[in-house]
Amino acid sequence: MSIQFFTPRGPRNEMIKLPTALRRTVRWLPQIGDLFPDFTVETTEGNLSFWDWAEGSWVHLFSHPAANTPVCTTEMAAIAALSQEWRAANVRHLALSGSSICEQQACHADIKRLFGLEIDFPCGQDPGLLLSRLFGMMHEKEDDAHPIRKSFLIDPAMHVAMIFEYPTFIGRNIEEVLRVITALRLRAETGAATPADWQGGDMVIIPDDRHESHVIRQFGNKSNWLLPYLRVVDAP
Ligand code: BEZ
Repeated sequence: MSIQFFTPRGPRNEMIKLPTALRRTVRWLPQIGDLFPDFTVETTEGNLSFWDWAEGSWVHLFSHPAANTPVCTTEMAAIAALSQEWRAANVRHLALSGSSICEQQACHADIKRLFGLEIDFPCGQDPGLLLSRLFGMMHEKEDDAHPIRKSFLIDPAMHVAMIFEYPTFIGRNIEEVLRVITALRLRAETGAATPADWQGGDMVIIPDDRHESHVIRQFGNKSNWLLPYLRVVDAP
């Protein structure tokens, strides 16, 4: 797998010499807009090459501390419960943890028994937590043996569109993952921005000065300038 490491540079492009201890730990951390690197991983659904598997879909790539633990189990079930919504929104999930395939399969069987839900997305095993380290999923001060709950939302061209980080004992809001992907798709398709607390169907923001005829063609409605810099329109 190739990963881009960065060399720290100053304002005049001079190389910054970091203390040796820091030099060993500072490396590329995925940021919004970065091309997410390709990698291969063994999963509960077989070996997977990330780009081949993911390209053309929106992807939720997420770490969780371990299989057969309480909070993780509820997160997996919450994703499985929205199976139809993910399909409709062209979203794929890939989980990553240090747990073995066998441990993950045992956890999936528990979820089936307890919630009646099938885990229908691949869950990767990351032996030695190498990928977790490379993707900034290890926060040693929180837990030096397990990844935190880190989520990357990645667009169909494999660029990072959003990053969430949750600590070990706080489960993610899975509805929020769906809400954000809906907003990201709307932004990609129409250029609209979404206001605070936006939910599908709410008004959206036109963040530029495009002509009104363009707005009507795109949204089927006239926009409304609430402030000289705040223009809204009913969602399409
Ligand atoms: C969990 O509930 O998911 C969990 C508990 C202990 C350690 C790591 C994860």
